[in-house]
Amino acid sequence: MKKPVADQQAVPTAPVCQTASNKPSCKPVIFVPVDRSPEIQEARLKLPILAEEQVIMEAINENPIVVICGETGSGKTTQVPQFLYEAGYTSSNGIIGITEPRRVAAVSMSQRVAKEMNLSHRVVSYQIRYEGNVTDETQIKFMTDGVLLKEIQKDFLLSKYKVVIIDEAHERSMYTDILIGLLSRIVPLREKVRMPLKLIVMSATLRVEDFTENNRLFSVTPPVIQVDARQFPVTVHFNKKTPLDDYSGECFRKVCKIHRMLPSGGILVFLTGQAEVHSLCRRLRKAFPFQKNNIDDDKEESVEEIRKFKKSRKRKKTTALPQIDLDNYSVVPVDEGDEDRDAETDDDIAGSDVDLDLGDGDSEEDSSLPLYVLPLYSLLAPEKQAKVFRPPPPGTRLCVVATNVAETSLTIPGIKYVVDCGKVKKRFYDKITGVSSFRVTWISQASANQRAGRAGRTEPGHCYRLYSSAVFMDFEKFSAPEITNRPVEDLILQMKALNIEKVINFPFPTPPPAEALAAAEELLIALGALKELKEQQAAKLSCPISPLGRVMATFPVAPRYAKMLALSKQHDCLPYTITIVSAMTVRELFEEFDRPAVSEEETAKLKGKKARLLQIQKIWAGQGALQKLGDLMVMLGAVGACEYAGCTPKFCEENGLRYKAMLEVRRLRGQLTTAVNSACADTGLYVDPKMKPPTEAQATYLRQIVLAGLGDHLARRVQAEELLDEKWKNAYKTALLDDPVFIHPSSVLFKQLPEFVVYQEIVETTKLYMRGVSAVEPEWIPALLPPYCHFGKPLENPPPSYCPETGRIRCHRPSVFYRVSWQLPAVEVD
Ligand code: CDP
Ligand code: MG
Repeated sequence: MKKPVADQQAVPTAPVCQTASNKPSCKPVIFVPVDRSPEIQEARLKLPILAEEQVIMEAINENPIVVICGETGSGKTTQVPQFLYEAGYTSSNGIIGITEPRRVAAVSMSQRVAKEMNLSHRVVSYQIRYEGNVTDETQIKFMTDGVLLKEIQKDFLLSKYKVVIIDEAHERSMYTDILIGLLSRIVPLREKVRMPLKLIVMSATLRVEDFTENNRLFSVTPPVIQVDARQFPVTVHFNKKTPLDDYSGECFRKVCKIHRMLPSGGILVFLTGQAEVHSLCRRLRKAFPFQKNNIDDDKEESVEEIRKFKKSRKRKKTTALPQIDLDNYSVVPVDEGDEDRDAETDDDIAGSDVDLDLGDGDSEEDSSLPLYVLPLYSLLAPEKQAKVFRPPPPGTRLCVVATNVAETSLTIPGIKYVVDCGKVKKRFYDKITGVSSFRVTWISQASANQRAGRAGRTEPGHCYRLYSSAVFMDFEKFSAPEITNRPVEDLILQMKALNIEKVINFPFPTPPPAEALAAAEELLIALGALKELKEQQAAKLSCPISPLGRVMATFPVAPRYAKMLALSKQHDCLPYTITIVSAMTVRELFEEFDRPAVSEEETAKLKGKKARLLQIQKIWAGQGALQKLGDLMVMLGAVGACEYAGCTPKFCEENGLRYKAMLEVRRLRGQLTTAVNSACADTGLYVDPKMKPPTEAQATYLRQIVLAGLGDHLARRVQAEELLDEKWKNAYKTALLDDPVFIHPSSVLFKQLPEFVVYQEIVETTKLYMRGVSAVEPEWIPALLPPYCHFGKPLENPPPSYCPETGRIRCHRPSVFYRVSWQLPAVEVD
């Protein structure tokens, strides 16, 4: 831990504004001294950006908005905040804010800058959602882009900031794009109230025309300052063949060869996710043992987490559950991998097709040094991340196995060899269900070049690409901005919460497709998060947010799930909804036993395990009203039982549960409990991990709550008289698809075939299957989902029916149904 040192530093109190024009300006003329150590000073002087300090500061003093481009490692993130500090930008009321798309960078950069400036963490601080060390003394604040977006919701003018720096703008993360759009409006407003705000956009590439040549964004084209980075030549070696699956094994062999055959210099390996990183680290440590090496790094993070969890429970009851990433507004668990943030570069690194013969890497003669192997990925604890910046122990070679966080966010010193598997774990959105999943895909050419560039920071280097040049030529040139290839309902809800009603007029650096905007607005209207403007049909995409929408916007989950949470305060359903939402989000709670077995013995074993799982799932599904909650009741039962048993790997193994998934559910429950508690101050909710099963009435309310959230995922069983052909037997019709869909055989409702169901997602295997199914009473549909219904004349006996032309449920006068539904418990929708 660093000691607070410089709190006593003399900081002038008022800036002297000396400017010839009468435009409001806070061009500071004060030089605030910084007490840096000689080593730090020496290292700084080597950074290319130091040569540009004068140019950069003049541009910032003269212009409200400045763009700075410079290769990764040129010193943008660590030095620009220091330039501003020294120039007195924080010497009167007002601080410097820097946003990062990744939590890793926000934490590690704040620590680095504090150290370089010899200032305490009370002065140079960070804030990532629900975690940070910001104080009243903070003058330089690193944060994630999501944090600043939330701050804008509270104070649109961002009055506490003198300067806002948007870092890593080339990554084009959705929140960064939105921030730039919002700041393009905030800067002129601040000018008007004579409290000028400086905006600095920093990018690792020169592709900034979406920001600079976009006249909807800035009225005056901002100056672009280019920092010339020293980049030593990097020789690129392609593999002759591209390994299809085992790129991890190929990485292992390549690192072995480099380490045994090539001169000293650090190795950086790019893999796709946390699990792969750990597995390669283990293999390499075994191959090149090094005693002091990572005594505890190999331990599963999860074991560590349980310990922390137990400790925290003892300490304080209300915050008993550990928290996970709260920057993530989406519902997919973050530790599935580092989300892709493809870099874009104009780097031109020459390539050759020779697979350098490094000899036989697996040969026994081993005269090599110990290998100092370190993992690096987003969720790694900050102390462990910091290790990569320190020199390796004498007499060892550094080998960092990283996900693409090492591509642009962090620069690791001393890397001479890069091993690039060419893949990245990326989030994909299912067009049918909108549910996201992670998949491993090829990177873009720009990313590959950016990765190669990591080898040439301090001396000429080599990059080994584990794919052929032909495969490289097929890569996309750049990857598309995030905003263009994902559903935007969560973003639109956040924008509406900022009172940006006419989303279509928003100055997006790259606008999302019009259909995506329309689909998002339609869904949000149906969920009741937006008020529909009936009289102004022409004014599309400009519906204002409703009070329900405001509550929903405070939850860090997708709007469908946020709606469920918002409704669940009634009848004490919150702990159950939090658990259901967490379990649906983590997905795949249960082991898959249908996999092919290698021996007869294994086949029998798998069969036994499957039978045991089906049996216990039936128990978890409960009886009577509970059973109608279907697969969601099974989720509740599984989580409850597992927590009751202390969530041990043994319990999970015996009951067919995935241990990692259960830990993830636990963390998400903690996160959502915190979110609910801060959204409604009076809840004081404490979610007991060992939850009692819901009562019969609560189970019924829960089904209604789920229906209200998943309304567009309603399905109706095709009746005997409607059977078109055999393929529709036992099939369901949904509003989204023309084809028949079926209840998944693993569902506890598989044999019961209720008339109406809601589903969590549709997966396509041999057929289209619904998973996460829960039964719906037909009477609830008109009461809870009026936007999905057509109301017609009353009939004698009025069951709602499905209208194939409109994809809606045809209902009759609501009054008829209200009479029916009075017999049933009903949730209040507002
Ligand atoms: O932002 P940009 O990529 O332009 O560079 P930076 O992150 O400011 O890094 C400048 C230099 O500081 C690099 O050479 C890093 O290796 C070094 N650095 C470090 O030694 N320790 C850290 N925790 C962060 C950066
Ligand atoms: Mg940077």
